[in-house]
Amino acid sequence: MTSFQLNGRTVQVEGPDDAPLLWVIRDQLGLKGTKFGCGIGQCGACTVHVDGQAIRSCLTPASAVAGSKVTTIEGLGGSHPLQKAWVEAQAPQCGYCQSGQIMQAAALLKSTPHPSDADIEAAMNGNLCRCMAYVRIKKAIKLASAPKPAAKPAAKTARAKA
Ligand code: FES
Ligand code: FES
Repeated sequence: MTSFQLNGRTVQVEGPDDAPLLWVIRDQLGLKGTKFGCGIGQCGACTVHVDGQAIRSCLTPASAVAGSKVTTIEGLGGSHPLQKAWVEAQAPQCGYCQSGQIMQAAALLKSTPHPSDADIEAAMNGNLCRCMAYVRIKKAIKLASAPKPAAKPAAKTARAKA
């Protein structure tokens, strides 16, 4: 029996110690947003966060995350700035790789809120997209990470009495 936090709630799972976290999340815990692509750590479709770090869940035994905080695409909640930017940039084509891409990008923005082009390319290098949506994925990350303009001071609504 392994116990960990999944998107903020405690879960307990059974099975062999070497059962990949990917299949435990999908089959035992019913969250299908995390995808199987290659199964050998080379595509990034299965990316989730463990204690804030992006990892490949196809290569990570569920037993290795005992006591940890695991976040999947469902845990971002749908209104994460990256998810909004993904829509604005129309990043996906078939969509299969996208939850892994977003989770990888979310880990990047946690450590580097305003990444350079080189930072984005380095961080996203291992997440493959068979539809070649790389330009739009990068655009979405840049949209989500662009510094926000400072709020203007509120306009005066009443003139001071002389
Ligand atoms: S399915 Fe895990 S890296 Fe491809
Ligand atoms: S959008 Fe189709 S694999 Fe990336």
